Amino acid sequence: MTEHSRLHAGTGTQGAAHWLRTALRQATGLPLREAREPDDAGGDGIGLRLAPGLGPEEYRLVSDRNGVLVEGGDAAGVFWGAQTLRQLLGPDAYRRAPLDRDRDWAVPYLTIEDAPRFRWRGLMLDVARHFMPKEGVLRYLDLMAAHKLNVFHFHLTDDQGWRIEIQRHPRLTEIGSWRARTKTGHRASPLWEEKPHGGYYTRDDIREIVAYAAERHITVVPEIDVPGHSQAAIAAYPELGNTDVIDTTALSVWDTWGINPNVLAPTDNTLRFYEGVFEEVLELFPSEFVHVGGDECPKDQWRRSKTAQARIRELGLADEDELQSWFIGHFDSWLAARGRRLIGWDEILEGGLAEGAAVSSWRGYAGGIAAARAGHDVVMCPEQQVYLDHRQDPGPEEPVPIGWVRTLEDVYRFEPVPPELTPDEARHVLGTQANLWTEVMEDHARVDYQAFPRLAAFAEVAWSALPDPAERDFDGFQRRMTAHYRRLDALGVAYRPPTGPLPWQRRPGVLGRPIDGPPPSR
Ligand code: ACM
Repeated sequence: MTEHSRLHAGTGTQGAAHWLRTALRQATGLPLREAREPDDAGGDGIGLRLAPGLGPEEYRLVSDRNGVLVEGGDAAGVFWGAQTLRQLLGPDAYRRAPLDRDRDWAVPYLTIEDAPRFRWRGLMLDVARHFMPKEGVLRYLDLMAAHKLNVFHFHLTDDQGWRIEIQRHPRLTEIGSWRARTKTGHRASPLWEEKPHGGYYTRDDIREIVAYAAERHITVVPEIDVPGHSQAAIAAYPELGNTDVIDTTALSVWDTWGINPNVLAPTDNTLRFYEGVFEEVLELFPSEFVHVGGDECPKDQWRRSKTAQARIRELGLADEDELQSWFIGHFDSWLAARGRRLIGWDEILEGGLAEGAAVSSWRGYAGGIAAARAGHDVVMCPEQQVYLDHRQDPGPEEPVPIGWVRTLEDVYRFEPVPPELTPDEARHVLGTQANLWTEVMEDHARVDYQAFPRLAAFAEVAWSALPDPAERDFDGFQRRMTAHYRRLDALGVAYRPPTGPLPWQRRPGVLGRPIDGPPPSR
């Protein structure tokens, strides 16, 4: 490519053209002026166009002496092809300004035909335990796009913080978006960070994030976690808690980690309150799926609450599990009536799951297998495999080590579709997702360290991995990683180097919670 090279965007490809021109102008300094006709792109120009013969998200990239042509089955396919084109230009194509204006930018002559294996290629980011300012979220969307990931699961609420402005319930952010101090390390650690931590996204921030994601063909799936993981909401509105069991006015936003006993009361008031929350959430997020959490809801307060027990009797339910199922079922119908679909963590299977709801299978494969067999759609994200908050090396230098050792190779060999499923059942596996819980990740460098390089291996699993992990070429992947580390360097990603953490990536003296031995298999 030279300063005379032009970019021709066929009908329906203007979005990808805008992204590509912006990215390449920054990195190369070349103007990539608009070509009005395909043939006018110059001998080494770029053409983008839709090709009806290709499938959803599929693309074909041809580079020859006529230049580069990227064809996609849809706009998303063209966009993924544009990502591949940047990859082919080398690591410096990921920079924000040119290093050398006289440089020759050449794409090798080749043809690539490519399509994703899964339509849900997700990353979950917990911004509740540690808030990630908006700029960091936009950066993660760029990193996702560079790895052809297309679902951003946005974990917006938890015991330790409420991160989304809700106009009709302003105390959710006035009170719920910050805590006075924070446990440093695992909950058994004696250390505290004695300063307030907080932050939230305004409605305009959310609109910007959703629009930025959409330009990158990423869907944002919001999560409002109910009926557990709700202490920040109860601290803001004490009437949401089990007021006949504890003094909920004494609760503050939680400052430590673990499974919290203070859960929502199963009252009409709570349902109406959260319908109001979800109404505003639906206004801001156009995604088909809306995540309602449903995980880790201890039932002790419901067992002790006269109000909860009366509700169980009135509804003719067997127990507290069925009460949770009723609670989730309420929002399933409520969302379905508004043309959306509920998705929740696999605990929502307990006590019966509403038709149409989908499951994020996190406690292993079992929940996902049960859900798929019952005809529910599933996103596979088992904690034993793709919880990237878990440590990536057994060595003593890992910062605040949590969970099982899951190396780059382990993630590369993760298979989302359990072999027990028949082909018909396996069709319910929409795809897979890596999860980043941020209890011990206080800033974006810590998030980068846990996410990379493993997210690159995960992205290959989601896009192109052979179903049999034994057939996957990890040596080949490692060779390709050598080039990919240079791209991550250019992007400024604070990944874990293959040789181990750099001195400033270590956290000596901060207690983690390593689990000995290999993770249980499925
Ligand atoms: C979860 O890890 N509690 C979904």
